[in-house]
Amino acid sequence: MTATVIDGKAFAARVRGQVAEQVARLKAEHGLVPGLAVVLVGEDPASQVYVGAKGKQTVEVGMISVEHKLPVDTSEADLLALIAALNADAKIHGILVQLPLPSHLNSDLVINSIDPAKDVDGFHISNVGLLGTGQKAMVPCTPLGCLMMLRAHLGKLSGLNAVVVGRSNIVGKPMAQLLLGESCTVTIAHSRTRDLAAVCRGADILVAAVGRPEMITGDYVKPGATVIDVGINRIQRDGKTRLVGDVDYASAAAVAGAITPVPGGVGPMTIACLLANTLTACCRENG
Ligand code: GUN
Repeated sequence: MTATVIDGKAFAARVRGQVAEQVARLKAEHGLVPGLAVVLVGEDPASQVYVGAKGKQTVEVGMISVEHKLPVDTSEADLLALIAALNADAKIHGILVQLPLPSHLNSDLVINSIDPAKDVDGFHISNVGLLGTGQKAMVPCTPLGCLMMLRAHLGKLSGLNAVVVGRSNIVGKPMAQLLLGESCTVTIAHSRTRDLAAVCRGADILVAAVGRPEMITGDYVKPGATVIDVGINRIQRDGKTRLVGDVDYASAAAVAGAITPVPGGVGPMTIACLLANTLTACCRENG
């Protein structure tokens, strides 16, 4: 079997197009422009790339983008004061603090200081609780993008066996909650799971979010399964830097029914969902 490739790049372009249409309508009918503030502390190169891409795409869909780049030795008090100001700013509907933060800053404290209604990452403890109890929440962007692609590819997910490999707060846990919300039978597997390959082979939906390059090979995949690769790993191969996922694409694609590539799969959907969440935050705030 050769798997269908789920084209996240094309999917994300459609989502951005829909967001841009709705932003234009909000502006024309209500004079409202959604605003997203992104806060970056320090100079982590990967974070700088992500923040740059977020700002560019925010502007492209017609929203206001505000970037706050703070020095690496920013105090917690100064960061909390900035977030308080953004919480109070009526022109800002979404606030994102890029993670990871430098180690002297308490990430939980910082994230939980964001107004939950502006928490477009869905990381605030209130949004985590709302999602976990099946209530209307801001949903983390990466798992939301994965769910959108799964729904588009498979239709109803009810009753399917889903295995999420990885238990992070950003991807694994919210992904599992979303799949449970779709009435999947959900297993969260991780580095301590016994016979991980056998557990994964039970999956109709396999989501890989472990952060280990090409760990999930074709041996882990049930024939015909849908494989979603959340990994973004930079590796050296043949003297070049390459971007690879957590899935060994060639061997998995030979067994799977459908698969997301890296790059061009989940990655573009994450920012598209951030824009969709910012639009949602703006619409909810303004009734
Ligand atoms: N760092 C890596 N992924 C993310 C994300 O989705 N949101 C934030 N804020 N930081 C990240």
